[in-house]
Parts: sequence; C-alpha cells; structure tokens
Amino acid sequence: MMDSFEFNKIAGAVLGTLLFLMGLGIVTDSIFHVPLPKVAGYDLPAVEAEHAGGGAAATAPAAVPVAELLAKADPTKGAAVAKAQCSVCHNFEKDAPVKQGPTLFGVVGRHIGSMPGFAYSPAILERSKSDQTWTFEHLNTFVTNPRGYANGTKMTFGGLKSDTQRGDLLAYLRTLSDNPVPLPTAAPAPAPAK
Ligand code: HEC
Repeated sequence: MMDSFEFNKIAGAVLGTLLFLMGLGIVTDSIFHVPLPKVAGYDLPAVEAEHAGGGAAATAPAAVPVAELLAKADPTKGAAVAKAQCSVCHNFEKDAPVKQGPTLFGVVGRHIGSMPGFAYSPAILERSKSDQTWTFEHLNTFVTNPRGYANGTKMTFGGLKSDTQRGDLLAYLRTLSDNPVPLPTAAPAPAPAK
C-alpha cells in the first residue's frame, strides 16, 4: 500500500518530466521555427501586363466590323469625305483618267492593283496576290492605315481613323458602280485566309 508521501514523489516526478518536455518543445520551436506561408504554395513572380494594352491596337484592323459600319453609314456624307480626303489624288467618275492614284470608280470588288495604265507599287501588287480583291474588309483596313496594310505603298495618306467617316466613305465607294455589290450582312463571313 502506497503512502501519500510515496504518491507525491511519483506525481512530482511525472509533473517535472512533463514540464521539462514542454520547456524543451518551446526551446526547439524557437530555434527551428519556420514560418508558415499565409497562402499555401510557392510565390511566383507576377506576370507583367505590358502586352495587354496599347501596342496591339496600333496595327490591328479596325475593331468595329465593317458590316456594322456600313449598316449605319450615309453615302451622301461619304461623298463629302471622299472629296475632302481623297480627291486630291483620285478621280471617282467612270472612265475618268488616273491622277496621282488610280480611278476609284468600281473599286469595291475590283481586283487589287488592276487599273490598266497605272504603275502600282510592289507593296500593293504583293497584297493583290494574297488578298485578291477590294472587299469592304480590305478597303476598311487599307483606308484606316495604308502603310499598315501595304508597307511601302505609294499612297502617302496617313489614314482615316474615324469609324463613322470610314463607314460613310465605304458606303459611297460602293455606289460608284453600274452594279453595286451587295452590302454585307450583320455577321460577315470570316476574312479569307491569307
Ligand atoms: C496623296 C495622294 C493620295 C490620297 C490623299 C489618297 N490616295 Fe489612294 N492611292 C494613292 C496612290 C498613289 C495609290 C497607288 C498605291 C500604290 O500603288 O501603292 C492609291 C491607291 C488607292 C487604292 C487602291 C486602288 C486599286 O486600284 O487597287 C484605293 C482603294 C485608294 N487609294 C483609296 C483611297 C481613299 C478612299 C482615299 C481617301 C480616304 C485615298 N485613297 C487617298 C494616292 C492617294
């Protein structure tokens, strides 16, 4: 039979051991402590967003689909745009002679670089191989930024950036024909592969 003195010795030893182990735990923790990351996983360097903006817009074709521009377009206003922006270098009447640039009567749907008697630049002739004809899409891209479309073109024109004016202009060019091509529908077919 254990007396109380004996019990106290054993209890004291157990307690002492527990306290020692706890103390050891605190000490080792403070020596080998590795902080846990707030979020599990590795920190990766942030991806820079430098390619997200600006740059692309300068060379990309006009953002508004040409069918949308034409749906809202006014050919009468387009005639005024053509007079102001293009008539220095282009004639628009049927059988009119070339000026600095080729005559634009019938240009919509015409083969690119095909006006007889006009000396086109190699840049335009190169485009005619890949793009074939002046569709509304091709005209839209060219008129927005001539050198962007045909780098080296002789057409020294900075480009018509206004969507509204370009739409009106294209609607006007369409009327310069004995047999105007149909207006594109709201969802145009994807541009032919280059
Ligand atoms: C400073 C003179 C100049 C102005 C202004 C100008 N053009 Fe031109 N354009 C040219 C020349 C030169 C060419 C021939 C380009 C070549 O061979 O590289 C040309 C070619 C074109 C062609 C290709 C025709 C074909 O037969 O393949 C189109 C379409 C055209 N111009 C439309 C326009 C429109 C629309 C405007 C007005 C927004 C305009 N141009 C303003 C000089 C001009």
